[in-house]
Amino acid sequence: MRRINRRLEVIALLLVGSLGLLILLFTDNSDDLLEVPKSETAQSMPKLHTNVNQATTRLVTKCKINTSVGEIPEFTSFNKPMKEFLRYRHCRNFPVLLDAPEKCGKRPQDSSNVFLLLMIKSSPLNYGRREVIRKTWGKERLQNGVWIRRIFVSGIPESSVDAHRYDSLLKIENEQHNDILQFDFIDTFYNLTLKQTLFLEWLETRCPHAHFLFNGDDDVFANTENMVLFLKGLKDNDGSEHLFMGFLIIGNGPIRDAYSKYFVPTQIYESHLFPPYCSGGGILLSMFTTKAIYKVLHGTELFPIDDVFLGMCLEKVGLQPMSHTGILTLGFQMLSNTFETYDPCFYRELLLVHPFLPHETIVMWEKIHNPQIKCGTLLAPKRPV
Ligand SMILES: *[C@@H]1O[C@H](CO)[C@@H](O)[C@H](O)[C@H]1NC(C)=O
Ligand SMILES: *[C@@H]1O[C@H](CO)[C@@H](O)[C@H](O)[C@H]1NC(C)=O
Repeated sequence: MRRINRRLEVIALLLVGSLGLLILLFTDNSDDLLEVPKSETAQSMPKLHTNVNQATTRLVTKCKINTSVGEIPEFTSFNKPMKEFLRYRHCRNFPVLLDAPEKCGKRPQDSSNVFLLLMIKSSPLNYGRREVIRKTWGKERLQNGVWIRRIFVSGIPESSVDAHRYDSLLKIENEQHNDILQFDFIDTFYNLTLKQTLFLEWLETRCPHAHFLFNGDDDVFANTENMVLFLKGLKDNDGSEHLFMGFLIIGNGPIRDAYSKYFVPTQIYESHLFPPYCSGGGILLSMFTTKAIYKVLHGTELFPIDDVFLGMCLEKVGLQPMSHTGILTLGFQMLSNTFETYDPCFYRELLLVHPFLPHETIVMWEKIHNPQIKCGTLLAPKRPV
């Protein structure tokens, strides 16, 4: 019964949605085709009208579809997201819907006060993850005398029903925490590269003098204290030299299986080998390296997998990604069978673990700060290969 109700609810929502779209199509640019008295529509359906207004702004900003993609050999055999990616691959300018313009200071020049900026890619739907990060490793604070700042980068939800609902949520979150950067594009896996490039542009204008950047996902446990200690311990601890560090992946290549989330057809990428790159779960970059990447950003065609894309940019500018054994983003689940993964001493030594659940994050953040827990004699855990 409840299921039927839900289904009815969904159908009703879909109907309302399509009605809205129809009204929009006819009122927006086809007045002479169909005479809909605008004021009347607005009066009889005030609720719909607000939705229509929002949708209008979105349609106006929409970039034109590339109709020639059908000419790519075997295009029809690609999966739906890949087709969608190719149709809109050339679209790279999307308006900012929500911003935190003074995240790094009143003026861009003031941004040198930020030592470590945490850029966390987050789908609008991941409210719980954001809340946990705000309370734990992503807390904005003065750490060992330097500032940590945080920003979540989002697009809009894929379903238009969700889009309206989450609009208000992100707005409220940003009013409360001043930490949301939202762009007007659909937040999907193959659009993560777009998210990355739009963020780098934002960084260049809003926060050009921060020293270091943590570039990562919202499902990780990041020991940001250790990150600050590590970065402060570098010879060039002001971000003026090359740093691009994470879980290094060398010798990996594209997956040709159209059912895979990571599917990349030969028509898009011919070689069977990617350039060296770091797993996108969490990467540490210096501002020097960020700026180097920024220089080649516009001339580099978007690639469907965001961390590989960063590897491609690095290769273009002749810089190498580096490895840090304290950043574990792959093979960690295997490790958890043989190790006491809840041992806080383990996490005290690390910089990043992926994946990590929100409730685990709360517990672990508390534990690694517990002065009663004595560490030091722990056998060094084996690192996964
Ligand atoms: C459209 O797609 C075709 C086929 O991939 C490509 O050659 C062309 O450059 C694309 N056009 C734009 C504007 O990106
Ligand atoms: C990326 O976002 C654009 C703009 O919203 C959208 O048209 C396109 O379909 C999205 N691409 C994918 C692969 O979801």
